[in-house]
Amino acid sequence: MDTALIILAAGKGTRMNSDLPKVLHPIAGEPMLIHAIAAGETLDPAKTVVVAGHGADQVTAATQAYDAAIDVVVQQEQLGTAHAVAQARGALEGFDGTALVLYGDTPFVQPDTIARMQTAGQDHDVVVLGFKAADPGRYGRLVMQGDTLERIVEYKDATDAEREIALCNSGVIACKADLLFSLIDAVGNDNAAGEYYLTDIIALARARGLSATAVTCDEAETLGVNSRAQLAEAEAAFQARARAALLDDGVTLQAPHTVFLARDTVIGRDTLVEPHVVFGPGVTVESGAVIRAFSHLEGCHVSRGATVGPYARLRPGAELAEHTRVGNFVEIKNAVVAEGAKVNHLSYIGDAHVGARANIGAGTITCNYDGVMKHHTHIGSGAFIGSNTMLVAPVHIGDGAMTGSGSVITSDVEDDALALARAPQVEKPGMARKLMEMLKAKKAKQQRGS
Ligand code: UD1
Ligand code: CA
Repeated sequence: MDTALIILAAGKGTRMNSDLPKVLHPIAGEPMLIHAIAAGETLDPAKTVVVAGHGADQVTAATQAYDAAIDVVVQQEQLGTAHAVAQARGALEGFDGTALVLYGDTPFVQPDTIARMQTAGQDHDVVVLGFKAADPGRYGRLVMQGDTLERIVEYKDATDAEREIALCNSGVIACKADLLFSLIDAVGNDNAAGEYYLTDIIALARARGLSATAVTCDEAETLGVNSRAQLAEAEAAFQARARAALLDDGVTLQAPHTVFLARDTVIGRDTLVEPHVVFGPGVTVESGAVIRAFSHLEGCHVSRGATVGPYARLRPGAELAEHTRVGNFVEIKNAVVAEGAKVNHLSYIGDAHVGARANIGAGTITCNYDGVMKHHTHIGSGAFIGSNTMLVAPVHIGDGAMTGSGSVITSDVEDDALALARAPQVEKPGMARKLMEMLKAKKAKQQRGS
């Protein structure tokens, strides 16, 4: 059966004490909302609807930057979780499958847990994800009779006896979409908060003779982010899980707790990652590469056998072919470095193609930006770029060509040519000594005078 995701993201997040809507605060470099959407996407949903409210424009922009096909509906007033889900009704008009409700501030529900809810949904009309809380605090409590979930009681409305229940509501609910909206129609707001509680649909379903149950998961998965402290905990929890997964996959992390990963980081087997490396979104590293200490990578691809760093920065569009070397204090952006090429020291290579086996001397810079537009630099295969060459783009250096150290290259260089573009050297015999004597005499005169 088809699945649709409804992701609640309208809340203000007062305790974040921020101008940014809570669900856009990043974990591993990406809004927590995107983590929640991606968790649900493992079900391959037919449709995804995000319910935005506070900061709706920003939430819409972030959602659509991730996937333009996602519907964003706006809940003008935050009247409660049932009211929030009701906003998705129009977007799901004619949808005949199961709706899964997730919260944008609960980013870590695992694919396997969602799959277990789907399985439970084969035998039950409503399935809720619960967890045993170490400190149940203000969570809603699940009132069970054997395997049957009878109702959910919100903390504010619970009796002392109900508050003793440790099984809590995560907020994740799965239910046939038409049934979900029909139950929500019956939800009122006569409760301690004066809100339309989504959790009321359980008792309403039971009163109609329908079945409801709970699937449980580890508390770490249902970790909700309400404050900066919880955001930091969520980051730590994410990183711990991502590092452990890489180690299991055969990647060596010399100091795992110093390596930071993104949701989509892919690193191949037998790659070595030295301490203090940061992976931003969109990085793939093939097997057998070496990422040396203090490197920063985002939006790039590193091929088998390549060596990066120490202290290298790979920015979006950096594509390193096999057995390339990118060394210390080198920045690569939107550039292909072809097989076996070396950029070992202190260079900026942007909007460029570096040919196979080319050698880029220390301090070389592609001057790609004229203040208004970006221009391309082509460096042919086997080219030798002398140290401290400025390549003023657009410019084409032929295969096997050379540039002299310190050259400012403004015109194309043909294959196998040597280009020199610097002032010729002038030598004045004895002049250095004369100059020193003159300066020393001047200083002595000043000291006598003072
Ligand atoms: C909710 C549950 C509670 C559960 C807890 C888990 C209800 C009534 N209560 O309580 O049982 O234990 O989550 O974290 O559902 N939201 C909207 N629009 C609204 C209200 C909320 O989009 O009008 C969104 C929020 O942005 C948030 C989520 O829904 O992502 C949960 O809302 P929140 O107000 O935090 O609910 P809790 O009181 O924590
Ligand atoms: Ca909450």
